[in-house]
Amino acid sequence: MEDAAKLQEFEARIEAGEKIEPKDWMPEKYRKQLIRMISQHAHSEIVGMLPEGNWITRAPSLKRKLTLLAKVQDEAGHGLYLYCAAETLGVDRQELVEQLLEGKAKYSSIFNYPTLTWADMGVIGWLVDGAAIVNQTMLAKASYGPYARAMIRICKEENFHKRQGYEIVATMANGTPEQKRMIQDAVNRWWWPSLMMFGPHDSDSPNSGDLMKWKVKTRSNDDLRQRFVNLTVPQAIAVGLTIPDPALKYNEETGNWEFGEIDWEEFWAVVSGNGPYNRERLEARRQAHAEGEWVRKAAEAYAEKQRLRENKVA
Ligand code: 3HC
Repeated sequence: MEDAAKLQEFEARIEAGEKIEPKDWMPEKYRKQLIRMISQHAHSEIVGMLPEGNWITRAPSLKRKLTLLAKVQDEAGHGLYLYCAAETLGVDRQELVEQLLEGKAKYSSIFNYPTLTWADMGVIGWLVDGAAIVNQTMLAKASYGPYARAMIRICKEENFHKRQGYEIVATMANGTPEQKRMIQDAVNRWWWPSLMMFGPHDSDSPNSGDLMKWKVKTRSNDDLRQRFVNLTVPQAIAVGLTIPDPALKYNEETGNWEFGEIDWEEFWAVVSGNGPYNRERLEARRQAHAEGEWVRKAAEAYAEKQRLRENKVA
């Protein structure tokens, strides 16, 4: 009975637009859903550094190198920020990281595709970070306080990520014929995987019910995907690029760019670990984690020394 009353009060708070904070009562299912979503989001940010990190040493100019370096460093910060948000729900970061390294945790499918040319850096910033902005500006209104606040800071940086990407795209689209070919090739490879970032159709989304009921998500997968397409197609047209979808057409009545069906077989194959680069990404993370062991040990030793010094003073 007591929990029923607490659940009623919890849901009334959410309906009233209040933020739920770490020390507030929350249904176990709400806490579990948030741990699932926030930890996967954090993993996505960390793994997401790999495709772009691959091009830092090969950037075409110092300016491009500095910009890409700043973006990849931002993603690391987003990951750490989100692991902190997950820890407010009582989970241990080390445990989350181990789940990722053991291949037991999900991260965004988009990061399991190879980055074949420099043009991919522009298209990732434009499409992938563009999709992330559509999703994350919605999450900045989530009912869980720490997650919503993390999104506000992250969205500011994502906007820089998208703008620097689109500037690369526009430059190459207006460059030599070879540059235009490269950028169009990158759009052809990244367009559909970017649409997959928003998840399965609402009808195939087992988590959306809880997440929408408790206002973690305030817009559905399909709704956000459509918003992304509506925003992005005019940007492609503006720089003379073609979206690789013969079914794409503008509906004057709804104001939507209607698009073709996503290859859900590909989507679920990538989500279940059988995408083009899943193994490489996990291997790279495992190697980086192993190589970073000495840094963690040094930080722990330093923290221990500080604790001993403070105890001595106290
Ligand atoms: N990649 C991998 N797994 C995916 C996925 C994707 N693109 N889309 C859905 N899934 C998984 C879900 O995790 C769920 O599996 P689970 O129950 O085992 O966790 C299953 O497929 C069914 O999907 P649902 O729609 O039921 O899941 P959600 O309601 O959680 O919706 C989501 C999926 C839209 C990705 C949602 O989790 C979300 O908005 N997450 C937060 C944002 C996020 O993680 N973005 C990832 C990109 S981060 C990024 O882009 C970094 C930027 O700097 C570039």
